[in-house]
Amino acid sequence: MPFHHKVVFIASEIYPFSKTGGLGDVLGALPLTLSRMGVDVAVITPFYGRLSTGEFKLRLISSRCPVGYPWAPITAEIYMADYHGLPVYFIQRGEYFDRRFYYNTHDGDYFDNCERFIFFCRACLEWARRMDMAPRLIHVHDWQAGLVPAFMHFWRQIDPFWRDTRTMLTIHNLAFQGRFASRLFKESGLPPEAWNMDGVEFWGDFNLLKAGIAYSDLVTTVSPTYAEEILTTEYGCGLEGILSKRRYALRGILNGADYSVWDPGNDRYLPCTYSASDIANKAACKQNLLDEMDMDPTLANRPVLGFIGRLRRQKGVDLLIDILPELMRMGLGVVVLGEGNLEFEAQLMEMMETYPGRLYVRIGYTEDLAHRIQAASDIFLMPSRYEPCGLTQIYALRFGTPPVATNRGGLKDTIVPYPDPQCTGFTFPEATAESFLQSIRQAVDVFSRPEEWNTIVHRAMRADFSWERSAARYLEVYRELGIDV
Ligand code: ADP
Ligand code: GLC
Repeated sequence: MPFHHKVVFIASEIYPFSKTGGLGDVLGALPLTLSRMGVDVAVITPFYGRLSTGEFKLRLISSRCPVGYPWAPITAEIYMADYHGLPVYFIQRGEYFDRRFYYNTHDGDYFDNCERFIFFCRACLEWARRMDMAPRLIHVHDWQAGLVPAFMHFWRQIDPFWRDTRTMLTIHNLAFQGRFASRLFKESGLPPEAWNMDGVEFWGDFNLLKAGIAYSDLVTTVSPTYAEEILTTEYGCGLEGILSKRRYALRGILNGADYSVWDPGNDRYLPCTYSASDIANKAACKQNLLDEMDMDPTLANRPVLGFIGRLRRQKGVDLLIDILPELMRMGLGVVVLGEGNLEFEAQLMEMMETYPGRLYVRIGYTEDLAHRIQAASDIFLMPSRYEPCGLTQIYALRFGTPPVATNRGGLKDTIVPYPDPQCTGFTFPEATAESFLQSIRQAVDVFSRPEEWNTIVHRAMRADFSWERSAARYLEVYRELGIDV
């Protein structure tokens, strides 16, 4: 049987096998959509100890894949799953990936992250090197896979196998760069020429995301607005210089939503389903959650605001904490699901004690609760300081839960703000507690006028962010690289 793929995705998460956030969701949907559009695509990803294999069987297909210089004689095991027809290869090496978390514990990043992801990138390429033919495109994601384009850049000059392979990096969040001490550069096996300010060097450190930006044939990010924002010092996280140098190779492509997973009309986690044409059950979903969380029954008729996300400054959770007392004075209900910064976790838990029955906080990562909060809330909160794309607000639209969000990055590209006649939500310009509160007041005011509110809800539910459209944009960009897809 011929063994090769035209397009190979390399990424550190893929839903439903692994996920810490939106990256996992994107990998669970984009390659599969491309494959259904007829593209010959495969994914390579780590085999974490905590992989959710569910209904999918993993087969060991190579027990000793070498990883090459300077790693010899270290090898990887390669497993494979058939994910609805999409081949997914898993790189296994227990000492690197069989851990409780993916990248960090509460005490910080794993000390050997650099080594882990050098290993991962090299193993992916060695696995691809065993194919009968090289992939035409290697499409990598975020810093964990950032070294791949750097290796390709140097290898294709000397190894004819790679001569026609092109590379593309998608940046999902510029703030996570994989920045390490310079001495670790030696372990990568990259040639010394890569160590310069137009290469992998960043203020004396070894920067894996920068490697991807510097050496990919094309760079994309996950919304058009973020693609512009990251060229500025405010959002560039120090990489605005190299990004500006590469601006002609930079594209912004909006993410999509996987409506086979995120649609209240067929959601397997909801107590009952609903849709834009029959929305009555949304109230039942709300009632169900209020009961389960022992919340004030009168909230059934008052707005309940939902927040789901990593509890970090990026997501503006501190702004939410600041205004919670005022939201409570306004008689609203608030439900928060998230984990992250220990201080934010503690503050939120403490406030839950102060406002029993009106503020519910769940610290942790629970897929099913994320769906149920989307359905049960009336208004979705997303006060992000920056947001490359953001998927939760896209899901909230489909769940008939108009978002209140900053007008940054992908939030700006996905929400039509009130009072536009086509509005689907509410946005505010400054990531401050005052602007956020003002925007919530506006939403609550409209909520009190059911007819107007329902029009917005219905319009939000009908907004279409299906992956087919985004995937078609990716195909256009692949073609810019001369790849016939
Ligand atoms: P980011 O990738 O920056 O975290 P996105 O909005 O793109 O933000 O994607 C977040 C994804 O992670 C969504 O699928 C969301 O439901 C999920 N998520 C975030 N926090 C949690 C949590 N605590 N429990 C369950 N799912 C979560
Ligand atoms: C990142 C970003 C988020 C984006 C997701 C998927 O985690 O923070 O905005 O939606 O990646 O691309």
